[in-house]
Amino acid sequence: MREAHQEAVARVSEERLWRRLMEMARIGAIPGNGVNRAALSKEDIAARKVLIGWARERNFEVGADAIGNLFVRRPGEDRAAAPVMTGSHMDSQPRGGRFDGIYGVLAALEALEAMDAAQVKTKRAVELVAWTNEEGGRFPPCTMGSAIYTGARRLDEFLDVKDNEGIALRDALAQTLAATPGLAQRTLQTPAAAYIEAHIEQGPLLENAGKTIGVVTGIQGLRWFNVEVFGKTDHAGTTPLALRQDALRSSIQIIHALHELTRDASDTVRFTVGRMLVTPNSPNSVASHVLFSVDVRHPDPVTIDRLGKSVEPTARKAAVPCAIKVTPTLHDDPCVFDSRVVDAVERAANELWLPSMRLASGASHDAMYMARVCPTGMIFVPCEKGVSHNEAENAKPADLAAGARVLTAALLELANQ
Ligand code: GLV
Ligand code: MN
Ligand code: MN
Repeated sequence: MREAHQEAVARVSEERLWRRLMEMARIGAIPGNGVNRAALSKEDIAARKVLIGWARERNFEVGADAIGNLFVRRPGEDRAAAPVMTGSHMDSQPRGGRFDGIYGVLAALEALEAMDAAQVKTKRAVELVAWTNEEGGRFPPCTMGSAIYTGARRLDEFLDVKDNEGIALRDALAQTLAATPGLAQRTLQTPAAAYIEAHIEQGPLLENAGKTIGVVTGIQGLRWFNVEVFGKTDHAGTTPLALRQDALRSSIQIIHALHELTRDASDTVRFTVGRMLVTPNSPNSVASHVLFSVDVRHPDPVTIDRLGKSVEPTARKAAVPCAIKVTPTLHDDPCVFDSRVVDAVERAANELWLPSMRLASGASHDAMYMARVCPTGMIFVPCEKGVSHNEAENAKPADLAAGARVLTAALLELANQ
């Protein structure tokens, strides 16, 4: 590693990174050490303001695009060259932890700070991105900001998506953008030379293997659906079961059939129904309408395709006597990261004498969409017992800082190519 790059890596501050993580963890804090910072909520706005403040202290230019993705830029020497990008997301699950997403944003800021403190020059700009609505917990689907940024999806496909309170994404987005005025306007699909995302692993492999750095090779495929079941509301005490069209009972039949469809002795398939809205949601009324989510994942493209195609016919057969509507909301094939970025991450870990291993990601990340438009990779650091999407999510300050050092070194390599 060049001396100037070593100097920058040495400026990564474990103390500052941890302090900032804990400051962000106070925004939307929930009992049990967790965080509830839904996309485009007042907590998300507060987190955005804090990030913008830190970026401006260093005089970094801050921009935003039409879906509210935030960009923090440290210029390079060649103003015409596409930037190397790095980042993650600041929104959380409703009962999320203190590290999922926000770590990758603050590790990216740490890398920018360290480069600046060391006064290291890069050919390309290095640009932090905080993607809007990665989690999709409030406004499904997940990885929305990067899907729109990369042109895989259009913004207008999502403007009418409503949260559980009936608030449309269009209004929450307008409110969020209005709350953070004065940002440079960023156009969608601006080319990037490369993208690296740092993230906690969200699984137990690194911890079990005693490794500090995960060199991520790709992400498994996934399919999301909204299943709507249409029944008829009736009196719970008087209507004979044989005469009912019970939307909740049909939903249970469908979910059971989908469990059978996804049964897998090797335990590789992931199948989750995590969200359900029942109408009228009263103990003594038969349900007239149910909406539930389906999340299916698998690393093999053929298997995920087969499973994805089987969801609707399986659900339809099991729904009797109710009618159903199945709407696909996300269709992501497995992705394999570019060897140039994977190798750069591995090289950085080796040069910093950090024990590393290659692994694939079970969770989805915005890196999946960036991989469609530029060479992309990810850096994982261990989290305690692999727990994530849970208030108890935890990680060690030293591991988080190690990930930020690897990120800094790998970014510097790529930003000079
Ligand atoms: C992202 O949080 C995912 O659902 O994998
Ligand atoms: Mn995440
Ligand atoms: Mn997550």
